[in-house]
Amino acid sequence: MPRIAYVNGRYLGPRDALVSIEDRGYQFSDGIYEVCEVRGGAIIDERRHLERLRRSLGELRMAMPVSQSALAVIMRETIRRNRVRDGIVYVQMTRGVARRDFSFPPPGTAPSLVVTARSLDMSSNEKKAQQGIAVITVPESRWARPDIKSISLLPNVLAKQAARDRGAGEAWFVDPDGRVTEGASSNAWIVTRDGKVVTRPADNGILRGITRTVLIGVIKAQNLVFEERPFTVEEAYGAGEAFVTAASQIVMPVVRIDDRTVGGGTPGPVAKALRESFHAHAERS
Ligand code: PDD
Repeated sequence: MPRIAYVNGRYLGPRDALVSIEDRGYQFSDGIYEVCEVRGGAIIDERRHLERLRRSLGELRMAMPVSQSALAVIMRETIRRNRVRDGIVYVQMTRGVARRDFSFPPPGTAPSLVVTARSLDMSSNEKKAQQGIAVITVPESRWARPDIKSISLLPNVLAKQAARDRGAGEAWFVDPDGRVTEGASSNAWIVTRDGKVVTRPADNGILRGITRTVLIGVIKAQNLVFEERPFTVEEAYGAGEAFVTAASQIVMPVVRIDDRTVGGGTPGPVAKALRESFHAHAERS
């Protein structure tokens, strides 16, 4: 598999795809990112991802390194050069390269742009979805603005590793009131025993997932009852079903939370149906 990355204007192989030690992404995590699913060679929900990217940049008072149309071309060229049909395309922007100083670099400092793309093994992903994943819960330890898709992901890294150490695939952050905020790299959902599909409102406490947004449309189109409200860990333990959503895994059933089996211990019918119908509602471009 080729591994070609776009780095500040050039397509480079792995040996040459390097950024400066003075890049503010490296020094301060001063940057943002997006991950889009690539399916059958098309980008899924690109418009919404780029809208969120512009919002993240705005919240951090960062400039777009290239025009949106140029970015669309770069994403496609990176996908093409890496021969990705099914996988992800990753876009990262930082405040650029400057001598280490906490406040913003001098005006005119060019923001950095890196784009990579890689294939994902769809059949192993599908197998995982058929089995469902385990989730652990961890105390919320992130900053107050996880609605910004920033590259500052240290609490997420630690939570994900804690999950892996316990044989789980995801960690759910839990706020001081015992309510689930979201996963380390996904949004969290439950289905109540009477069939209501529940997820936390997308306020400043979570990332407004694009998969989440599209899935709300799918839920409504299927005439399921949708409740946008916080839910506690206790409620999740006793739920009929649970699942997570993210661009890299769409709808992934959860069959265990901490040491409790969820529902019947196998992926539930609502999660399965939503996973199957997601792409009929997503945009392809
Ligand atoms: N993560 N919440 C968090 C903290 C995330 O990192 C993600 C995505 C989501 C889901 O967002 P979306 O549906 O737009 O992918 C929610 C990506 C996939 C990642 O970091 O790899």
